[in-house]
Amino acid sequence: MNQQEKIVTMFDNIAKSYDIANRVLSFGIDKGWRKEACEKTYKIYNHKTIDLILDVACGTGDMCEQWDKRAKENDIKISKIYGADPSSGMLEVAKQKALNAKFLQAEAKDLPIKDKTVDILSISYGLRNVVERDKGLKEFYRVLKPGGILVILEFTKLQKETILSKLRDFYMKKILPIIGGILSKNHEAYNYLPNSIDGFLTKEKLIKELQDTGFSVEEATGYSMNISTLFIAKKPSS
Ligand SMILES: C[S@@+](CC[C@H](N)C(=O)[O-])C[C@H]1O[C@@H](n2cnc3c(N)ncnc32)[C@H](O)[C@@H]1O
Repeated sequence: MNQQEKIVTMFDNIAKSYDIANRVLSFGIDKGWRKEACEKTYKIYNHKTIDLILDVACGTGDMCEQWDKRAKENDIKISKIYGADPSSGMLEVAKQKALNAKFLQAEAKDLPIKDKTVDILSISYGLRNVVERDKGLKEFYRVLKPGGILVILEFTKLQKETILSKLRDFYMKKILPIIGGILSKNHEAYNYLPNSIDGFLTKEKLIKELQDTGFSVEEATGYSMNISTLFIAKKPSS
């Protein structure tokens, strides 16, 4: 099994306990991070009708649900919301929720979506798991319409050590693996999370990768003591 297959199998194995573990481990704050991402994006995109929103690495469908809810609140009409994920286990949980979304089994680097058809493409806490990230980012660029928006929520590596970053690391490395391991009965998966953050990019490096792919970065903001970072990037209009 290669590294990417191992990651997807790990998500298959924790799929059933994923939602409850997420809520407990983030004290429910993760919902607020997703809500803020959707609301800011709708303001920046500023269209009252949207053809397609695609959530990549959709997991159990939380982001698809937020796109739908926030659109209704803001009187935005969306024709289609798609969620894509390579983990059949995660998609199975998503499908049971009867959300206003269609789910596809696919990897970030190989999306079964036509060129220039997506208005908004999101990936929340998923980019770290995309082993061939360069191919993924190019694929996002390919499917987005000119002027379309890429939204990334991610736990980035912190550039400077501060008291707060040490606190975050202590929680992520010492507390989270124990609680996550108990809730999911899969200790390996919840040891993977802090390691995958350590192995990921800083905010500045991800901005550079997005710019190198052709995006203009409109926003890169840290939330909750920089635990979570929201990136909003635009594909140029022409
Ligand atoms: C931490 S979960 C995030 C799920 C969801 N987006 C959320 O916010 O809760 C990461 C997801 O990335 C998916 N994933 C792993 N490798 C991927 C890849 N190469 N392309 C797309 N998704 C991938 C996993 O199957 C998993 O569902």
